Amino acid sequence: MPGLNPVIVMTGATGGIGSATAALLARRQARLVLLSRPSERLDALVEKIDRDNRVSSVEVDLSSLASVRAAARQVARTVTHVDALLNIAAIYASQYEQSDDGFELMLATNHLAPFLLTNLLRDRLAGAGRVITVSAPSSTRVDVDQLLSKDHFRSLRTFGATKAANLMFTFELARRAKRWDVGAYAYHPGLVRSELMREAPRPIRVLTRLVSRPPDRAAEDLADLATSPAFASTTGWFFKGGRRIDPPKSTLDAGAQGELWRRSAELVELGEGGF
Ligand SMILES: NC(=O)c1ccc[n+]([C@@H]2O[C@H](COP(=O)([O-])OP(=O)(O)OC[C@H]3O[C@@H](n4cnc5c(N)ncnc54)[C@H](OP(=O)(O)O)[C@@H]3O)[C@@H](O)[C@H]2O)c1
Repeated sequence: MPGLNPVIVMTGATGGIGSATAALLARRQARLVLLSRPSERLDALVEKIDRDNRVSSVEVDLSSLASVRAAARQVARTVTHVDALLNIAAIYASQYEQSDDGFELMLATNHLAPFLLTNLLRDRLAGAGRVITVSAPSSTRVDVDQLLSKDHFRSLRTFGATKAANLMFTFELARRAKRWDVGAYAYHPGLVRSELMREAPRPIRVLTRLVSRPPDRAAEDLADLATSPAFASTTGWFFKGGRRIDPPKSTLDAGAQGELWRRSAELVELGEGGF
């Protein structure tokens, strides 16, 4: 169970949901390690929330596997145990773009990065660590070959597939990580005000702006999932609010989850080290 100053590693801390979550966790005395791209936004956040010198940042570009590996090494040097890893960062890209490693950018940032980061932090999470991945109830089919193909790129479908992949990753992780006493949770924040869909078609932007809420509730939920004893034995669950919700059926096929894990491990060249 997390102690008085739980160690929380998080991505996406500069975003709508992440910044509210980081601020709340800092108020709750957590020791925070923010994995972020350097920016004025990041500097301003750290300045604002770091009252007791408990917030540090590690530079990462999640679209680059080498950068994720370097960040994981830096985290391992900085802390001996991670109570919770919050995989919050994601992007929506309207056009096909390729990462340094040759992957489509949403696949690289939204799925391969948290997959690799989580696996590389296995030994720091071992012993009651929690991995919380922020996703959405996406029923888009995850077809890795389609995601790897420029010709098959369709922005909303690709984005949806990466969010479904987050769910499948979590459910497979929950099974694999039991050996290390690590829990895996997926979380859906509902529609929250942020810049995530800034490249989406105008009708989607207008609609989401109309119905989205401030990030406070999501921040509370995430802070609780990361630290509350109430969630110590809810590994493999998908949450919205403090409640378990049913994931889309399409994400529940254990064979498909295992196959996605195998392909992802190949793509990031995980080797023997992960879960
Ligand atoms: N907002 C919603 O309604 C909603 C609904 C369902 C699910 N979600 C999920 O909630 C999570 C957070 O979304 P949000 O709405 O808070 O989005 P956001 O405000 O756009 O924040 C995205 C975060 O990801 C970071 N990021 C993007 N690319 C990166 C990269 N290459 N390297 C490092 N960091 C990178 C951004 O950092 P920079 O400052 O460096 O850009 C930012 O901190 C996402 O997983 C999203 O899918 C959101």
